[in-house]
Amino acid sequence: MTASPIIAPSILASDFSRLAEEVRAIEGAADWAHVDVMDNHFVPNLTIGLPVVQSLRKATSIPFDVHLMITDPQRWAPAYAEAGAYNVTFHAEACDDPVALAKTLRSAGAKAGLAIDRDTPVEPYLELLPYFDTLLIMTIKAGFGGQAFMPEMLGKVRDVRRRADVNELELRIEVDGGIAADTIEQAAEAGADAFVAGTAVYGAADPAEAIRKLRGLAAARMGLA
Ligand code: DX5
Ligand code: ZN
Repeated sequence: MTASPIIAPSILASDFSRLAEEVRAIEGAADWAHVDVMDNHFVPNLTIGLPVVQSLRKATSIPFDVHLMITDPQRWAPAYAEAGAYNVTFHAEACDDPVALAKTLRSAGAKAGLAIDRDTPVEPYLELLPYFDTLLIMTIKAGFGGQAFMPEMLGKVRDVRRRADVNELELRIEVDGGIAADTIEQAAEAGADAFVAGTAVYGAADPAEAIRKLRGLAAARMGLA
């Protein structure tokens, strides 16, 4: 059975002075809130960290999809799981033992996610997929919202989809970067079933309506509508 699409608005595109309200604005419409943690080392940008996630966790019931764009995730990632994140994703490029960290995250009660940045091939990680609940393929270079979607990343999505289907893995294949009404269908077609959207949701006049539209487009392409 095909799983229904997950829509995960990225709060990176929201108004940081009103974070709790911005997250509540997508409750009921979105599946997860995508939280981009950037440390000014792994990526040049700097966003939010653990104290903000801990506070925000208390302000909403929506599951958090934490995307760690940080060096040394072994040191920091478990605390996000302990803070109540539903899924904690760290970058393959930043971790020398992804399987060990995935196990730690799972035993801390979270789903474990592995992210693959624009310039990283996915083949070396296909063998590790059984240890993960989500595999995030960047469809831009990680670091900033508002960049243009890169369709040439979809080959990686197809490779992961093939492997997940053949091995009957329970894996969400997530795409992140430039996902909007004009790009989500090709990502769904390639095999993605979880979609991060920052600008397309928080830049819209009605974020909940934008989410519904994205969900409809993805579901139709996944053969669900
Ligand atoms: C960028 C982040 C993305 C970003 C997506 O490194 O990982 O989650 O917020 O923003 P849009 O949807 O605007 O490309
Ligand atoms: Zn992200």
